[in-house]
Formats: sequence, C-alpha cells, structure tokens
Amino acid sequence: MSNSIDSLFADRLDIIPFSGIRKVFAKIRKMEAEGRDIIHWEVGRTDFDTPQHIKDAAIDALNRGMVHYSPNLGILPLRKAIAERTKIDNGVEIDPETQVIVMSGANEGILASILAFVNPGDEVLVTDPNWHHYKSITSIAGGTPVEIPTFAEDNFAIRPEEVEKRITDKTKLLCITSPGNPTGCTQTQENLEALAEIAIRHNLIVIADEIYARIYYGEGKVAPSIFSIPGMAERTVIINGFSKIYAMDGWRLGWTVASPELTQCILKIRQYTTVCVNTFTQYGAAAGLLMDQTCIDEMVVEFAKRRKIILDGLKEIPDVKVSDSSGAFYVFPDISAYGLTSKEMADYLINEYGIATVAGSVFGTSGEGHIRIAYSCSTEECARGVIILKKALAALRENNN
Ligand SMILES: Cc1ncc(COP(=O)(O)O)c(C=O)c1O
Repeated sequence: MSNSIDSLFADRLDIIPFSGIRKVFAKIRKMEAEGRDIIHWEVGRTDFDTPQHIKDAAIDALNRGMVHYSPNLGILPLRKAIAERTKIDNGVEIDPETQVIVMSGANEGILASILAFVNPGDEVLVTDPNWHHYKSITSIAGGTPVEIPTFAEDNFAIRPEEVEKRITDKTKLLCITSPGNPTGCTQTQENLEALAEIAIRHNLIVIADEIYARIYYGEGKVAPSIFSIPGMAERTVIINGFSKIYAMDGWRLGWTVASPELTQCILKIRQYTTVCVNTFTQYGAAAGLLMDQTCIDEMVVEFAKRRKIILDGLKEIPDVKVSDSSGAFYVFPDISAYGLTSKEMADYLINEYGIATVAGSVFGTSGEGHIRIAYSCSTEECARGVIILKKALAALRENNN
C-alpha cells in the first residue's frame, strides 16, 4: 500500500480544473502589489455597495438576536419576498412554503440541484460558452457534461437542433443561463419556447440560471424566462441570487424556485450541505426584495452607460466583432482576426497594457477566439480602458503587417 499523501486524494480532483477566472485574479493581485495600474475588466461582480436599507435590516436582525439556525428552507419572510418577486419577474404564482429554498449563493442552488438529479453516468447539457460551474459540478456528481455549442453569429442563441442532436437516453438536465456569462446575450422568448418543447418531449429537467435577468437592456425590465412557459414550471429549477443585482456577492445569498416535488429533492441534499444560510443576513435580503427598488433601476442605468462606452469603443476597432450583449455586465468580442488564441490575447493585454480580461477558452470550447470584458468597474475606468485597448490592438495590427 502506498504511504504517499497524494494517494489519498479523491479521483474527482483530476476531472475538475482550478477556476480559470480565479487564476486571473491571483495574477492581477500580484501585479498591483508590484505597483502596476490595472483596468479591471476581469471581475464578474459589481463595484457598487450593498444598498444601505439592506445593511440596516441585517444589522437590526443581528441586534434582535437572529443568530440561531433558520429553517432549512430559509426564513419565511424571505421566501415570501422571493415568491412575490417570482410573480413580478416570471409571471408565475408560487407557494413560498413549498417551492423556495434560500441558498448560500446561487452556487449552492446549482450544487444542490445537480446533486439531486444527476446519477453517475447521466449526461447534462450545458450551453457553451458558459460559466464553468455547471460542468465542474456535473463532474463532481459523477455525470458527464455535454457542451452545446453556441455561435457569435447568432448572438449566442441556443440552436434547438444542436440540443436535440445531443440528447441520448442518459440525458437528464439542460442548463440555460440567460442573460449569459460570459456573453451577456439573452435567449429570446421564441428560442425558449423551442427549448421548452424539447425538454417536455424528452422529459428533461431544465436548470434556468436567471441571476442576471434583471440586468437587462432589452424590452421590459426582465429577461424572458423558460419557467413561465406552459408545462415548464413543473420541470424547471430557477437559480437566482442577490450577488449581482443587489451588490451582495460577499453575503453569499441566493435561491432556488421549483415545483414542490423538485424542491423536496433539492432540500434533501441541502440538509447535508450548508443546512441553512446565516439567519440575520436573510432579513437584510428580504428588505432588499421588498423595499424600494429604485436602487436597482439606478444600477442598471449606470451599467447601460458603461455598456454603451464599451460597445461603441469596440465597434470602432478594426477586426473586432461584437455580438449584441443585451444583459448582464459582459461583452464577449471576437478577436480571432488578430491571429492570437484567446489566452494569448488576454495575456498580451494584461502583460503589456494592464488590461485585465478573461480568455474565452476558460468558458468552454466555443469561447475560443473571444475575450470576456466585464464592465463592472467605474464608467471612468471603462472609458480609459477603451482608449488603452484601441492602442493595444493598433500595436498588434502594426506588428501583424
Ligand atoms: C451565471 C452565474 N450563475 C451563478 C453565479 C454565482 O452567483 P452567487 O454569487 O450567487 O453564488 C455567477 C457568478 O458569477 C454567474 O455568473
């Protein structure tokens, strides 16, 4: 028997990578410590502060002694507030007693849902490019992630035929993130209806990540949802959270909404993950959902200004193509004409010009040829970044000629 310590490590560590995004963060921290000035286009979190009334409600709850375990599902006032929000955003009436679980971030919702539905050997359809957690958590559960390619020429809309041809008798879940990370693209109502028809016909559960649904620049204040389509509420798990829209990423608060039957399955797993979320923070989150939403409107107006600066700037750069990112705070330009891989381009931009982006390949095979720009930094930094990016790419073109 081997007595080396690494012989004790679980095999699943070999099938999941260290997060490509976290690697970029580590590099930037080091560069900043060395005194480099960095344009922060790498961070998938807002630069806003949590609104004061949310902090006050959490502090008040803490002072009232809300320091003990909450129910596994979360405190009822927060579940009621989530049900209210679901009615507004998704147009569907749900029961806060049986259909909502407050999670430690959207991430825990994803983890608990995948563990609840994926057996070893099951296949999980994940749109590509996508935020890596879906694939990694599927692998942790012993399942096989199956990438569905999406294309810049379609604004990264999911082609129903690409889904259909990857369905086997092992397919269990279809994961959709809309608006998307890293693309910022939103699936249209028509597209979601086609996907819903496939999910119903093949008896699939859909995991609908709607964490960016309210950071939406299209018609109406909220991106379309597959949960609202007839026949889908019983087979969809909504993943949502407070991190992005209420600038509460460090609070670690999110939720799932699903049918009572699916919620029971997810709850069974959650009882053995985090058990419940910090009780007093849940009171803060409830205030966020229930009280005045103008802070959200203001935040989205600000994001829209930054989006315009970045999109207008990118459109002026020769050989860069941009898709219509209608949501979230990401754009995902195609830089392949410059002849570098996405990793080489991201390295060039950070090393030579101090512009931090994330290589598209980090988000899956279809991400190659692109870089992710997160405009979650100040408007001034976005404008400055565009000027530097123009310079950086002009220098590359010069070199290429
Ligand atoms: C698509 C998507 N889903 C979920 C999350 C995680 O959210 P949370 O902070 O609530 O765990 C992120 C964070 O970047 C994300 O981009």
